[in-house]
Amino acid sequence: MMPESTFHIPAEWREAAEEIAAGGGPVMVIGAPGSGKTTFCVYLAGYFCRRARRVAWIDADPGQPFLGPPAAYSLGLYTDAAELLKRKKPLVMGFIGNTSPVGHLLEAISSIQKLYNRAMTLGPDLVIINTCGLVSGGAGRELKYHEIDMIAPRYVVAIQQKSEVEHLVAPLSQRAGVLIQRLPVSQDAKISTTEARKAIREQRFKEYFRGADYLDIALSDVGIHGPGLGTGERLGFRDVNRLSKILQSIVVHAELSADRLFVVTEGEYAMDELYTAKEQYGVREVTVLKKSELDYLLIGLNDDRNYCLDMGIIRDMDLKEQILRVVTPLKDPAAVRNLSFGSLRVNPAGAEIGQW
Ligand SMILES: Nc1ncnc2c1ncn2[C@@H]1O[C@H](COP(=O)(O)OP(=O)(O)OP(=O)(O)O)[C@@H](O)[C@H]1O
Ligand SMILES: [Mg+2]
Repeated sequence: MMPESTFHIPAEWREAAEEIAAGGGPVMVIGAPGSGKTTFCVYLAGYFCRRARRVAWIDADPGQPFLGPPAAYSLGLYTDAAELLKRKKPLVMGFIGNTSPVGHLLEAISSIQKLYNRAMTLGPDLVIINTCGLVSGGAGRELKYHEIDMIAPRYVVAIQQKSEVEHLVAPLSQRAGVLIQRLPVSQDAKISTTEARKAIREQRFKEYFRGADYLDIALSDVGIHGPGLGTGERLGFRDVNRLSKILQSIVVHAELSADRLFVVTEGEYAMDELYTAKEQYGVREVTVLKKSELDYLLIGLNDDRNYCLDMGIIRDMDLKEQILRVVTPLKDPAAVRNLSFGSLRVNPAGAEIGQW
């Protein structure tokens, strides 16, 4: 992060900070990629910290976060402007599961609300919410609409060159108490390439997993939000054998709930036999997971309120012993009470190796 003295602060940015200082928060900053959202948030947080105010910072950008690792939303508290120059570990995170919120819009909405609730317990003078650059298309519109709806910020700061985010601001015209601050993009703002953004994400993952180690988690001790694992009655060896025959594969785990048969296989299976399994078990859905698909998958290691303590990378799942082995910076599994499966596969060196 560059020192704030090297920012070129447009006069409008300064006026906005003054107005926000008088009007209060929360402040949600929106804009296209590279428009200067994070830079404005740093400027605004610095402005408040220098006036001895406490700033809660919610990072709602799973692609290019300021705080914390990618694939999560994070909460931090700043009381001193100097802290903005070094990377702080978030107080708590909300697990998103991928570096793009597309496909994880519900996680994005619930995480922003949870982090906002947590931020309020810190008694901050201002809550700043830095958002992601997904501003166009159906997913961008839905995400921003509902994030704004959840928080009902005092100020929506819309940073734009021309009218890149007007379509996100238009639905707010009749919202009580929501004020729009339109700000120009700084002349020094630089849009980075897709490759450069990917390299930054890799670097951030790598920093996050530096010093990470293996941790074993007992699946019987946790609640699981994922493809179906841990949500049904575990089937015995007779059913496992039967399913192995139907799916022409080695089934290592199967469970049945009211709506779904969930099966884990070792290797390939006969996809065109899924309807047979569906019929035989009288369910609407059959979900089959090949064990190899789990390798390197991101997983949220969450506490008893489902706040993310740390992220992990799945390295093994022993379904017989009910042990999940992950690589994570978290040292003690005791506080892990819930797991959330992500949809991105990443190695501990930070390389994104595929989608689930
Ligand atoms: N006021 C400014 N003065 C100097 N440089 C700036 C200013 N605003 C933005 N920049 C530069 O432009 C680039 C993009 O800015 P920034 O990261 O704040 O944008 P963003 O909207 O948060 O982008 P992203 O969508 O990637 O999160 C950065 O290199 C940043 O340093
Ligand atoms: Mg940013």
